[in-house]
Amino acid sequence: MSEKDNLDQAYWEQRYRQNNTQWDVGDITPPIKSYIDQLPDKRIKILVPGGGNGYEAEYLHQNGFSNVFLLDFAASPLANFQARVPSFPSDHLLQEDFFQVTPGQYDLVLEQTFFCALPRGLRAHYARQMYEVLKPQGKLVGVLFSEEFQNPGPPFGGTAMEYQAYFEPYFKFLHFEPCTNSIPPRQGRELYIELERRPRPQFIA
Ligand SMILES: C[S@@+](CC[C@H](N)C(=O)[O-])C[C@H]1O[C@@H](n2cnc3c(N)ncnc32)[C@H](O)[C@@H]1O
Repeated sequence: MSEKDNLDQAYWEQRYRQNNTQWDVGDITPPIKSYIDQLPDKRIKILVPGGGNGYEAEYLHQNGFSNVFLLDFAASPLANFQARVPSFPSDHLLQEDFFQVTPGQYDLVLEQTFFCALPRGLRAHYARQMYEVLKPQGKLVGVLFSEEFQNPGPPFGGTAMEYQAYFEPYFKFLHFEPCTNSIPPRQGRELYIELERRPRPQFIA
């Protein structure tokens, strides 16, 4: 079976049901919180894809952001979220495949441990799909692991050079550097990214 078939919806659903969720830090993390805290406009449309238990969506909601969408193709984390944050609009909880999201909708997408959870074969597609779902000049912001891991399964690590190749055609790099405020277990192992969608893809010959 391919990596793609193994890491399907059933795989992730089972991990939530078995509480096998080591990635789940139980709170918003400092790099994403700092970014959110300086956003001037609380009406922007924000997507948290592969968002799991959705601590970023919860933080945004509690801080007055009104147009926030939490997307995951596993049902359990969305149900957990709904029980934990009952005032969050239920029609902003999207149980969908990220790769099927309708284009051109979002001002901002937040990334944390979604990219590294995908089969490596989907990485180029992820960059393209991020470009697609964002509005012109929309931003992709968050953290990516900055080292290779030896695990047979997720999280899959990676390198800055590899990421550059995926994202350069679609995004301007506003920030792409070692993260200085990672949570302790991830210190020195993350890149902080703020990428701005290009008006059109730019492929260098
Ligand atoms: C490692 S978890 C990270 C969850 C969350 N971002 C966090 O930091 O706690 C990866 C998440 O991506 C979801 N996922 C994986 N592939 C997906 C896809 N194609 N579409 C939507 N969600 C997906 C999984 O269900 C899982 O909740």
